[in-house]
Amino acid sequence: MARLSLRKLFIFFLCLSAVLFLLISVQVVVELGQFERMGHILPQRDLHEVGRRHNSQGSGVLAGERTFPGGQMAQYPYIVWWSPLTGETGRLGECGTNKCFFTINKTFYSHPSTQAFLFYGTDFNIESLPLPRRVHHQWALFHEESPKNNYKLFHEPTITLFNHTATFSQHSHLPLTSQFLENLDVLTSQTHLVPIARKNILRKTLAPVAYVQSDCDTPSDRDVYVSELMKHIKVDSYGQCLHNKDLPPLLRDSNAMDEQAFYQILAQYKFVLAFENAVCDDYITEKLWRPLKLGVVPVYYGAPNIWKWLPSNRSAIVVVPDEPPEKLARYLKRLDENDLEYATYLEWKIKREVSNRKLVKELKERSWGVQDLTQENYIDVFECMVCNRVWENIDRQKKGMLPKTWQAERDHLKCPSPKTFDFASGPSNRTSLQGIWTLSYEQSKKEARALRRLAERNRIFTLAQYWKEVFPD
Ligand SMILES: *[C@@H]1O[C@H](CO)[C@@H](O)[C@H](O)[C@H]1NC(C)=O
Ligand SMILES: *[C@@H]1O[C@H](CO)[C@@H](O)[C@H](O)[C@H]1NC(C)=O
Ligand SMILES: *[C@@H]1O[C@H](CO)[C@@H](O)[C@H](O)[C@H]1NC(C)=O
Ligand SMILES: *[C@@H]1O[C@H](CO)[C@@H](O)[C@H](O)[C@H]1NC(C)=O
Repeated sequence: MARLSLRKLFIFFLCLSAVLFLLISVQVVVELGQFERMGHILPQRDLHEVGRRHNSQGSGVLAGERTFPGGQMAQYPYIVWWSPLTGETGRLGECGTNKCFFTINKTFYSHPSTQAFLFYGTDFNIESLPLPRRVHHQWALFHEESPKNNYKLFHEPTITLFNHTATFSQHSHLPLTSQFLENLDVLTSQTHLVPIARKNILRKTLAPVAYVQSDCDTPSDRDVYVSELMKHIKVDSYGQCLHNKDLPPLLRDSNAMDEQAFYQILAQYKFVLAFENAVCDDYITEKLWRPLKLGVVPVYYGAPNIWKWLPSNRSAIVVVPDEPPEKLARYLKRLDENDLEYATYLEWKIKREVSNRKLVKELKERSWGVQDLTQENYIDVFECMVCNRVWENIDRQKKGMLPKTWQAERDHLKCPSPKTFDFASGPSNRTSLQGIWTLSYEQSKKEARALRRLAERNRIFTLAQYWKEVFPD
């Protein structure tokens, strides 16, 4: 994709300049040895060129094995992804003036130049961790997905194992809180905005509220709330959950969620239920941004600190989980019948005015882009954050200074225990799965403590030893 082709271009230029420098300096030959190992992403022509030059030198020396004249330190630090996430078996990445060698090849665990390990939260696997962890091994966690994907990382004993973090939390070293929002322009765009008069006409065939969800059993327990809400106000539910209305056949798979035709359907509604699958500060997804972009008022349930992120303080209706859905239904009905009051929720959109300075600042200052070829993507930025920090310590050591330390803190990845809804009238079909998220969260606390103890023992361990540590009896 874009990331790959940019990289191709980048590598191509790197090769080109390397070949030029060859005439000046023999040193470059050593670096080229590395490119051969990246054949899969090199254009064929360059591969041939590089291979030929490399062979003529007859040496397979890796760049990282070279040492500075002074001794111990390799020329490039190696940074190993403990996850197949990037698929890159070897790439010399450039981060400003620093270079690091990135690979998903775990055999580099024992390489003397390996300085850091990058973990991806969703596939973070306690089996075969890079243990023992050497003094110079920095650990970094990238976790942008839903908390439901790996609860054991959400506790102090585990999150503090890492030196560097990139998570949805605004407290992390590289906050990804706004990862689902491209920019301010799409937010204030009126491309899809349907005038209220038109929405009123559409109301003859449509419900005031739309819901589209295909994951029906989530830690946020949203379907239980929504099914209760549906007893008090009409909701058109297009997804698999609480389904009562069909999408056109072409839009039925989840990949169609970003189709213009799907946007047009949603844009006709006055309200869209924007319920996250988990309830954690700063965990905000496209569920919120999509209706805001379309000019539909989101009824939001998710991040308790959502007020910090909304474009204006009257741009969404935020669910108060302790209040009965019936009360919310009454409020929505009132707005449905009162155009002037409903319009106050779209005033920011009509004026294209985002009064939330924090949101504006965040979008302006973040160092990565979303679906934006002119900006780096957040995985590259994460890799470079670690690369630059590794280099910072190399440079400090060269100057005889003490190394700097980084440490993830408790609030870099935090989520309260999932809460289930319990309504007096009782949802019609509460499955036994309902309590499972809470149980799973409770168990994950034990797992986190066990993992911490095992990591501190600093020896590789088996799954059996892990479970014995989790449940000692
Ligand atoms: C990983 O690196 C080793 C050398 O350290 C190499 O022998 C092996 O083929 C590599 N594996 C992959 C999948 O690239
Ligand atoms: C909402 O925003 C308006 C103007 O932007 C401001 O005057 C008002 O104090 C805000 N209200 C709250 C509760 O933040
Ligand atoms: C990384 O974290 C470990 C564990 O907390 C710590 O011992 C080490 O000093 C840290 N390293 C750096 C470079 O911050
Ligand atoms: C759901 O409710 C229906 C009747 O309301 C019942 O027949 C069915 O067994 C229930 N399903 C589950 C999983 O409890």
